[in-house]
Amino acid sequence: MRVKIIFIVIMSIILFLSIAYSEQNFGAENIILEGGESGEVPFPHKMHQDTLKDCNICHELFGQEIGSIEQLKVEDRLKAKQIMNTQCLKCHRDTKKAGEASGPISCAACHTK
Ligand code: HEC
Ligand code: HEC
Ligand code: HEC
Repeated sequence: MRVKIIFIVIMSIILFLSIAYSEQNFGAENIILEGGESGEVPFPHKMHQDTLKDCNICHELFGQEIGSIEQLKVEDRLKAKQIMNTQCLKCHRDTKKAGEASGPISCAACHTK
């Protein structure tokens, strides 16, 4: 009896964890970000998820929805270029300096017209 109950409890936990994991929404693989007068910024989202692992490195400042950065700018809760400067550029510069794999730093490498 006892063994059966323990077995059922363990199976329930495994089932719960696998549902919770499969239901996590990772969002689009690639996202086009609004880049103002400098032009749109194609952003390889999945590549960053795979490389960085931690969602909050970026999402501590904005939500997991398309358009959330622009919405926060409209509401004056984010400054223009704040994400670009404090996240994208900062990390690409830091990783480059450390001699690690890094992303673009020049305007035209991110912004497309
Ligand atoms: C390097 C930065 C970065 C990391 C790391 C990151 N994201 Fe995102 N994510 C973004 C950006 C930028 C957007 C688009 C926001 C916008 O449109 O304003 C976004 C949008 C999203 C969306 C909405 C996109 C859609 O297609 O509906 C979801 C969901 C999401 N992220 C989930 C995650 C999860 C889960 C992780 C961690 C596994 C993660 N993100 C890691 C930058 C990141
Ligand atoms: C690593 C990619 C990247 C690089 C390099 C980059 N940008 Fe951006 N830029 C972005 C992203 C993402 C946004 C949108 C988020 C934000 O405003 O923080 C943006 C936004 C902007 C905006 C619009 C701000 C607004 O709210 O209207 C301007 C203007 C801009 N960038 C100019 C530049 C210039 C000039 C350079 C070169 C000196 C540059 N960017 C380099 C990614 C980049
Ligand atoms: C915490 C670090 C970090 C942040 C934040 C970050 N990146 Fe990156 N990015 C990387 C790394 C590392 C690579 C190189 C990955 C590789 O080559 O495996 C990269 C590569 C890229 C590339 C090149 C992709 C390719 O195909 O070569 C682009 C474009 C890019 N990032 C745009 C952005 C934009 C736009 C943002 C902000 C919304 C951003 N990144 C935020 C670390 C970061």
